[in-house]
Amino acid sequence: MALTATLVVLASGNGSNLQAILDACDRGQLDAVVSLVVVNRQSALAAPLAASRGIATHYAPLGPYRERFEDLAESRAAYDADLAAEVAAESPDLVIQAGWMHLFSMAFLGEFPNQVVNLHPALPGTFPGAHAIDEAWAEHLSRGLTHTGVMVHLVPDEGVDDGPVIVAEEIPIDSDDTRESLEARIHSVEHRVLPAAIAQLLESR
Ligand code: GAR
Repeated sequence: MALTATLVVLASGNGSNLQAILDACDRGQLDAVVSLVVVNRQSALAAPLAASRGIATHYAPLGPYRERFEDLAESRAAYDADLAAEVAAESPDLVIQAGWMHLFSMAFLGEFPNQVVNLHPALPGTFPGAHAIDEAWAEHLSRGLTHTGVMVHLVPDEGVDDGPVIVAEEIPIDSDDTRESLEARIHSVEHRVLPAAIAQLLESR
């Protein structure tokens, strides 16, 4: 019988995708437990959500590292190495970036080869970065973009929202869409696709 997998979830925002992962664990779609949730912003709603479920949380802001080192790359490398040690202590099967707005260097990624998974609200090769939905919406208005999407991919290196794709799903932009209705549709697809991609990865291991 397969062993229950251990997940560490990294989140900076509203935590709705953490919720989707926890729901998938509850209903048995994922044979996994989330042992630790890491947030890098005080406002991240994933922290109270995790605490309400009795899941350990770790607040890891980059700020103190920026103050300690003059060089940005040095501060990021030190931050990434310290956070890698915190995460490695959980012996996770997978590390899930669920709305994680920090670009890891190899100081972190090198510790977890083929184990770091990222969710991005756009199709492979499109709209990398933190504003993918805004950028797709702007392109819809200016140039008639008719679809965008969601992808879940492995994070092998420092490429931004780039890496071997596990699942990608196209999402139409309808003529009666608003920015808000498009975002809501994207999030509802994410909440289905992210647990499915994690399940697929765990099964293949
Ligand atoms: C999600 O839309 C996720 O795809 C996006 O942040 C949001 C987090 O939502 N990630 C990126 O843009 C990565 N470049 P949540 O906090 O409600 O889970």
